[in-house]
Amino acid sequence: MSAAVTAYLESNADRLLAELCELLRIPSISAQPEHQPDMLRAAKFLHDQFAAMGFQVETVQTAGHPIVYAEWLQAPGAPTVLVYGHYDVQPPDPLDLWTTPPFEPTIRDGKLFARGATDDKGQVFTHVKSAEAWLKTEGRLPVNLKFVIEGEEEVGSNNLDHFLESRKAALACDVAVVSDTSQYAPGIPAITYGLRGIVACEVALRGPKKDLHSGVFGGSVTNPVNALCRLVSALHDADGRVQIPGFYDDVAPLSDAERAGFAKLPFDEAAYRAELGVSAVHGEAGFTTLERRWARPTCDVNGITGGYQGAGPKTIVPSRASAKITCRLVPQQDPARILDALEHFLNENCLPGVELEFFRFHGCPAFVFDPTSPYLTAASEAIQEAFGAAPVLIREGGSIPVVTTFREVLGVDTLLLGWGQNTDNLHSPDEHFTVADFHRGTLASAALWERLAALPKTVG
Ligand code: BES
Ligand code: ZN
Repeated sequence: MSAAVTAYLESNADRLLAELCELLRIPSISAQPEHQPDMLRAAKFLHDQFAAMGFQVETVQTAGHPIVYAEWLQAPGAPTVLVYGHYDVQPPDPLDLWTTPPFEPTIRDGKLFARGATDDKGQVFTHVKSAEAWLKTEGRLPVNLKFVIEGEEEVGSNNLDHFLESRKAALACDVAVVSDTSQYAPGIPAITYGLRGIVACEVALRGPKKDLHSGVFGGSVTNPVNALCRLVSALHDADGRVQIPGFYDDVAPLSDAERAGFAKLPFDEAAYRAELGVSAVHGEAGFTTLERRWARPTCDVNGITGGYQGAGPKTIVPSRASAKITCRLVPQQDPARILDALEHFLNENCLPGVELEFFRFHGCPAFVFDPTSPYLTAASEAIQEAFGAAPVLIREGGSIPVVTTFREVLGVDTLLLGWGQNTDNLHSPDEHFTVADFHRGTLASAALWERLAALPKTVG
């Protein structure tokens, strides 16, 4: 890669990190309406970054949080790459489990701690800064670059599809790049060629019109919390198989080659248990931990509530109970069909005497990318150059809904290049990004533009 670009990234490393910290100080929590002004501040921060680099930039208002769109299209004859990321973050709760406050970025042991450090501000910023390095040193980028950085990824990307569809022509590109996944492990960078999909919902059971004395009335009416627990426990059998009829009908089985590929990756189960703080791994019988995480569907209760939660006892039959549930999906499963099947299952198994309400949230199908594509080879070379190790090919269990839209609306595949680690505590207290991973990610991104420039342009 251009020696000047590398030198720029080396000599400006501290400033780049300081600028990332500025972005991390903005509590852009998309789920919480009181942070609306912070969403605007985060969008403006990125807008100003792009403007200062010489990109054409626009902050696009949506029905929700704004999308920052920036482009630099002065590489005629070269391919066009669309970079996607998100500037919104998950709520930081529970706050008391953070060693330092979530929006006061702090470096400890070579790690930058802050909500959004790895998911996704730190990762998307590597691409912003690699573009800056090219423009500041060589005065050009090897490829045409378009950035879409949204503020609603953590709440289901509700307004993104409309943006992508309405600007389909302007967003035409050869390939998309997203850094919102992880490396396989420290020292083992990865390219992710598959993600799980997701469906999310909430089920509420309403019983008596108000909480009742459990001595006076208990035993004579259905207790909504009891009934909900019964429903939740019916979701799985003892072998970890989901009991919703039809749940596995469309699941694409893992090929022998894929299973062999997963099995070749180093995996230390004891270390995994220790990292997560569990005494045993558990999941669908007949599958390894990596298979369960990357290529098998799941059904998880994300939260459950109902009845008295305060100190000491309280003798009531509560009037209401509810649970939030998500299913992770694998290729060929249809989100709408799975949600229908779940709703049906809950209704079928619900005790009489409570009223069941079912609320549907977001959903997206699973995604798999052709692991033999020339884009992937180019990315692999760029990663090798920056990390000093060739990336392994992995799938991951999280979801990034936009990758499906990129395929359906723009007709392109997405390179999922994660610079973080899956132990970076994303969505958890003490989220962090290893400073060296941020730096290597930026170098890999800078190298990627050059490697992709060698591939034929297919649009524009
Ligand atoms: N960055 C994650 C997705 C991810 C994490 C993919 C780790 C692969 C490995 C992303 O920000 C995220 O959390 N997405 C949500 C999507 C949902 C809200 C539609 C998820 O997976 O829960
Ligand atoms: Zn993310």
